[in-house]
Amino acid sequence: MFGRRGTQPPSEPVAPAAPAVAPTPAAPAPETPGPDVADAGSASSPVPSPQPPSEPAAASPPPAPEPEAPAPAPVAEPEPAPSDSAESLSNNPRLAEIKITVFNDLLEAVDLAEISKLEPDEVREEITDMTAEIISMRRLVLTIQEQQQVVQDICNDILGLGPLEPLLERDGIADIMVNGAGQVFIEIGGKIELTDIKFRDNAQLMNICQRIVTAVGRRVDEASPICDARLADGSRVNVIAPPLAIDGAALTIRKFSKEKLTFKNLINFESITPELGQVLEVLSAIRTNILISGGTGSGKTTLLNLMTGHINPGERIITCEDSAELQLQQPHVVRLETRPPNLEGAGEISMRDLVKNCLRMRPERIIVGEVRGPEAFDLLQAMNTGHDGSMGTIHANNPREAISRVENMIAMGGYNLPAKAVREQIAAAVNVIIQAQRLRDGSRKITHVTEIIGMEGDIITLQDVCLYEVEGEDENGKLIGQHKFTGVRPHFWEKARYYNLEEKLAAALNMYGA
Ligand SMILES: Nc1ncnc2c1ncn2[C@@H]1O[C@H](COP(=O)(O)OP(=O)(O)OP(=O)(O)O)[C@@H](O)[C@H]1O
Ligand SMILES: [Mg+2]
Repeated sequence: MFGRRGTQPPSEPVAPAAPAVAPTPAAPAPETPGPDVADAGSASSPVPSPQPPSEPAAASPPPAPEPEAPAPAPVAEPEPAPSDSAESLSNNPRLAEIKITVFNDLLEAVDLAEISKLEPDEVREEITDMTAEIISMRRLVLTIQEQQQVVQDICNDILGLGPLEPLLERDGIADIMVNGAGQVFIEIGGKIELTDIKFRDNAQLMNICQRIVTAVGRRVDEASPICDARLADGSRVNVIAPPLAIDGAALTIRKFSKEKLTFKNLINFESITPELGQVLEVLSAIRTNILISGGTGSGKTTLLNLMTGHINPGERIITCEDSAELQLQQPHVVRLETRPPNLEGAGEISMRDLVKNCLRMRPERIIVGEVRGPEAFDLLQAMNTGHDGSMGTIHANNPREAISRVENMIAMGGYNLPAKAVREQIAAAVNVIIQAQRLRDGSRKITHVTEIIGMEGDIITLQDVCLYEVEGEDENGKLIGQHKFTGVRPHFWEKARYYNLEEKLAAALNMYGA
């Protein structure tokens, strides 16, 4: 069968070695050999399998299971095991030891790198069969349920993200932060908590990091210890490995909720009001140039994703990101991703390269996942030259600061422009800044919708359209506050009229006949 090594006279040709690009086999190799389980007090009672093993179980060297031997123990269904299997295994030292033994035998018997290329169901089936053989040959005593747990845990190691799987399954987690093998934190409900999940050792953690980044064609090791990647579901991943991370690899996953958030969800979370939602929809549809500003994890990318949902399906959109997180639903989207330099330091494609290239791709809108360098200048140029409706996110704590951040990025980019000229560019390019914020009670809010309305002397003039005001705190520490429209008639009103959305805007702002 595919991937089996056959250390005994192989009944089938040995599977070819994994291609040289795969940096490591997919499985961790614990340094210490698995305990000899025959000693582990389990020899007394027989294996709960209907059939005795075909050969006497050898005492020490792990026997290579005969590929054709019938699978004795009935692990019937490759049924999805309980999602907390990893937690329960790490809480059960006996099972954890057995798993190591079985895993070591599997390592001997099959080429796990090859096996992990199969469809998940096939892998599960294969691992289930072989685990049953090993358990039977080693005369390990396990209930069917325990056996399923071991199989599930091994499958998680081979296919998935090992101990992280239960966290990835669980909804409501915004971030998973692994600080070396022994500490896993999560952010849930806006608050950071320590979990009881642990990795077996740093080698297992590194292996999982490696697996994640290999999936997007990158690598992480001592020579290139920093790496961005993403999971299959779009979650963003950052890995920083030893020696830079002193206490073992640090893995950070920005996890989006499984159900994609919608404006309705944001209204339920009280991040926005229904009326503000309407205004945001109008802003997106009428092709205003928008910067979404906010602190780390404040919900910028989520909002950007939502805003793009109201773009006319006929428009050609080009997205530029460091690791592709945006999930646009429109039919006509080109997604671009930057590339880090290779080992020799060559071949980097920066955000600036992407944004510049975009301009030659006949975009109607350009969406930049995160503006954080000299590409700011190119994005402004694009906004100023007919690519209305372009958007980007930026790290800043309020709209005014967002503007100075853009100024700084341009200054750092080495453009020798007087400050006033840069500000004029910004004022002409950006129409609206939307501020996202994570408040101290953990809730995420849109706190400002602010227009750039021009220049007064050297200063860019801003006008708030909507503000969130904190009014107090309830007995549980939850902040009480309100979104308030300021009552000004926004400058984008004319654009709304042009796009036939004046009424929707007037209704949202409660400004009929304005
Ligand atoms: N309004 C909201 N209410 C509750 N959760 C939210 C809200 N907006 C976003 N989230 C969740 O918060 C997490 C962070 O969101 P997001 O990635 O959009 O933040 P970000 O500001 O782009 O972060 P970063 O600065 O790291 O790029 C995600 O898990 C997302 O699902
Ligand atoms: Mg983001």
